[in-house]
Amino acid sequence: MTSPEEVLSVYSETGGATKTTTAVSLAVASALEGEDTVYIDLDPRAAGTKWFDVEPRERGLDVAAILADPDPDGWAEDIAVPARWRQVPNLRVVPSGRTLSNRETSTEELSDIRLAVSLRGLKARRVVIDCPNRQGGPLIQNAMTASTKVLYAGKFDEDGLDGVEGAYKSVRRFKKHREMLGATDRLTEAGIVIGAWGDTVPTRDAKRAEQEFINAYGNLLLEPYVPHRVIVKESRAAGQYYGFYSKGQPVHQAYGALARKVFA
Ligand SMILES: Nc1ncnc2c1ncn2[C@@H]1O[C@H](COP(=O)(O)OP(=O)(O)OP(=O)(O)O)[C@@H](O)[C@H]1O
Ligand SMILES: [Mg+2]
Repeated sequence: MTSPEEVLSVYSETGGATKTTTAVSLAVASALEGEDTVYIDLDPRAAGTKWFDVEPRERGLDVAAILADPDPDGWAEDIAVPARWRQVPNLRVVPSGRTLSNRETSTEELSDIRLAVSLRGLKARRVVIDCPNRQGGPLIQNAMTASTKVLYAGKFDEDGLDGVEGAYKSVRRFKKHREMLGATDRLTEAGIVIGAWGDTVPTRDAKRAEQEFINAYGNLLLEPYVPHRVIVKESRAAGQYYGFYSKGQPVHQAYGALARKVFA
C-alpha cells in the first residue's frame, strides 16, 4: 500500500501568522513541481477550504469525519476532492467542516492517531496540513502524529514571534512524549517561513523583530522572506490563487523557492 512520503504541518500558535497562506502556497508549489499533493484543512474555521472554494463530495465527508471515526484507515483518499484551480492539476483538498470543533475536547483513547491512520493508501507523494492556531490539544496532536516535518509560520512582529515560540515548545513537548512512550519519532523541523514581509519599507519594529528571530532561531529561519502584496488577500476573497496574476509573482516565486528547500 502506498502512503505519502512527506507530510508537512504548517504551525504557529497565534492567529494571522500566515499559516494558511503558507500551507496553500506550498501545496500549490509542490503540485506545480509535478508531485501529486494533498492539502488538508485542519482548521474548524475552514479559511483554506473557502479559499479553494471546494465542497465536500457529500455532506459531512470532511476532515471532521476522519477525526470522529475510530477506524479511519484510508479515509483521506475517499475524502480528498480535486482543487478547482485548473492551472494546478496535481492538487487535491481535504476540506474542513464545522463539526471539527467538536473534536477539540475529545479525550477518546487513541484519537490522536486518526489523521495519521487516514493517510494510509493516499495516492499522493506529499501532504500539507494547515494547522489551527492552538496551544497543542487534539487537533495539533493529530497533525504532529501524522507529520514527517513541521514548518513554523511567522511574521516579523511580537505576535509572530510569540506564535512560533509557543509552537516550538508544543513540538518539543510532543517529541518528549513520544520518546517517553518509546514510540518512533520521525518528526523533524523544516524551519520558519516569514510571511507578509514589508519589503518596501521595513519598519523599525519589523527590524527589531527580525533581530529577535535571528537571536532565538537563527538556524531555523528560511529565506527568502515572503513579501507582502495586496493581491494575496484580494485573490483569496475571490477564491483564486494570487500566483495567476502578475502582481502576485513575487509572492509566488518566494513560496516556490521555499518549497524547494522545505520538500528537499
Ligand atoms: N504575503 C502576503 N501578502 C499580503 N497579505 C498576506 C500575505 N500572507 C498572508 N497575508 C494575509 O494575512 C492574513 C493572515 O494570513 P493567514 O490567514 O494565512 O494566517 P493564518 O496564520 O492562517 O491565520 P489563522 O490563525 O486565522 O488561521 C490574511 O488576510 C492573508 O491574506
Ligand atoms: Mg489559517
